[in-house]
Amino acid sequence: MIETTDAPSSLTPAQYPIGVFDSGMGGLSVMQDIRALLPNESLIYAADAGSVPYGGRSASLIRDRSRALVEFLAATPVKAVVVACNPATAAAVPDLRRHWPSLPIIAMEPAVKPAVAATRSGVVGVLATEGTLGSDRFSGLVSQYAGSVRVLTRPCPGLVERVEQGDLDSPALDRLLTRYLQPLLEAGADTIILGCTHYPFLRERILLLAGRPLHLIDTGAAVARELRRRLGASALLSPASAPAATAFWTTGDVAALERFLARHWQETPVRVRAIGNIEKTTQET
Ligand code: DGL
Repeated sequence: MIETTDAPSSLTPAQYPIGVFDSGMGGLSVMQDIRALLPNESLIYAADAGSVPYGGRSASLIRDRSRALVEFLAATPVKAVVVACNPATAAAVPDLRRHWPSLPIIAMEPAVKPAVAATRSGVVGVLATEGTLGSDRFSGLVSQYAGSVRVLTRPCPGLVERVEQGDLDSPALDRLLTRYLQPLLEAGADTIILGCTHYPFLRERILLLAGRPLHLIDTGAAVARELRRRLGASALLSPASAPAATAFWTTGDVAALERFLARHWQETPVRVRAIGNIEKTTQET
């Protein structure tokens, strides 16, 4: 059984919150874009920080956990779910859409198309987790959009963990980033796709280490626009005329998420609560 959130029983569906989830803090980069575009929507964020990183985990475990997280959010209820997580998009979205056919479910898509349009050197680099780069979804995007542009991929083990720890500028982080970026820069990449929702938090560091102008492209703003389009098409945009609140939940360390939010979330006060009990349904096999 999943613990439920506070039920807004007197609300109409357009007043329900939007649910957003990720394996950890990364989805907060997407939340920032959603909040900027839709200030009057209430939001609920669920971080599966007890299981982060999803990279390296089996597709079936990611599917199970994604389903449990959407169950948790849907119990609120929510009017849409944003899967702010690339591995969950690759492993779980078709399953989620089958289970919740009438719930708009908006997913991530590594920004291959805009990056191909943006490059002038004809070389695009992709930083992402191994699972995302190995997914059929990703290779499908490359064959659909790359054309004559070279798309060079670089899996980045360790970066998600650094961001989870709130480390956005240590020497150890710089060493990792340099190792991942250098081959892409040497090959002439002028455009880099940030193919993991944790990486926008490293944007400034990447630009500093690159030492030359670089397009860094992520998908958060496009996801926010797609969310607004879907809500509009279903007459589900919030009727509120004032900024709305955000609730944060985590399966991991409440204090760690609070610390992260203090640096990266404008609204105050923030309240983070613990999600209990979803582990039972999602044991790694
Ligand atoms: N933030 C995620 C992504 O978009 C997940 C990273 C992970 O847990 O491996 O890739």
